[in-house]
Amino acid sequence: ADMERGKMLEAHELAAKLYHYLLLNTTHGAEALQYLRNRGISDKLINQFSIGYAPPQWDTLARFLTARKFDPQLLERAGLLSAKNDGSGHVDRFRGRLMFPIWDRDGKVTAFAGRVIGEGQPKYLNSPETALFTKSRTLYNLHQAKASIRKSKQVVLFEGYMDIIKAWYAGVHNGVATMGTALTEEHCAVLKRSAEEIIVCYDGDDAGQAAALKSIAMLEKAGLKVMVSMLPKGKDPDEYIEEYGPEAFVREAIGQAVSATKFKLIYSRKNHILLTEEGRKNYLLEAVGIVAELDSSIEREVYLKELSREFEIDLHALKQDSFHKREELQ
Ligand code: CTP
Ligand code: MN
Ligand code: MN
Ligand code: MN
Ligand code: MN
Repeated sequence: ADMERGKMLEAHELAAKLYHYLLLNTTHGAEALQYLRNRGISDKLINQFSIGYAPPQWDTLARFLTARKFDPQLLERAGLLSAKNDGSGHVDRFRGRLMFPIWDRDGKVTAFAGRVIGEGQPKYLNSPETALFTKSRTLYNLHQAKASIRKSKQVVLFEGYMDIIKAWYAGVHNGVATMGTALTEEHCAVLKRSAEEIIVCYDGDDAGQAAALKSIAMLEKAGLKVMVSMLPKGKDPDEYIEEYGPEAFVREAIGQAVSATKFKLIYSRKNHILLTEEGRKNYLLEAVGIVAELDSSIEREVYLKELSREFEIDLHALKQDSFHKREELQ
């Protein structure tokens, strides 16, 4: 089994090198390269993230690796090749796609994500779960980010590849991403081991904000201090950087990240119509519930005072409700 693992790792390493070479040195790759440049990805970033290109042919990688004496069955188990339907051999799993190697925390390539060039479905094709790769445990870019995370005790959590790459360009070197799957308890445990604080920087769309709410709860449970980056409506970090520039991203999106409590209050607020008395009351009840979850009475008081001022409600009444909610939580 160790030998099989070793062979699989070797195959991934070679595949990453081949795809990277094909992106930079072939006419087919030129179109993919242009696509990357149009998206603001420089050659330096292409090298930093070993981005590559899988040509549209059926057997580019299959030929390359079988010529090097790799067993096609093993390559299939590694998720690099797929068996043909009629059982007559193997074809490349990834074709006509931009290739993003995915590394384990030691920097070994264990999987790939392939993006269509332009529009198409699926937008990203990922490696299947293999002996090398478990999605629920893997965080994209952890191998490059871990030094910066350990030093700053802080980590930034993104949704996807492009966000990580563009954020790196902006100087954010402590970013990791979950690659489309929901954050898991295993991810949280990994993060908690080297960081104290986390900034959740998900897409500024409804899906991203709903996902943020779930991740925040898990990260808090794992014992991390959680901050949340508020992106303008509909923008993801990659698009934000493209539109407003890297400095604005660091200054506004990262630098002005709000507390998890603040984020929950903003989120709850959006679900209530504050123009009606009933809406205001319901929001206040929910808001007090959110504040009641805070363990520090100083923090609770700060938020309750704000609510008291804004809604002209007696602070004592808010404190009393918050107290009862806390009793319910125990
Ligand atoms: N994802 C995936 N498979 C898909 C779509 C998304 O694995 N078919 C994952 C990818 O890791 C992707 C992340 O979910 O990076 C976030 O999805 P989305 O916001 O739709 O993609 P972007 O990262 O914004 O991709 P791009 O900027 O290239 O359009
Ligand atoms: Mn290179
Ligand atoms: Mn999205
Ligand atoms: Mn996105
Ligand atoms: Mn994007």
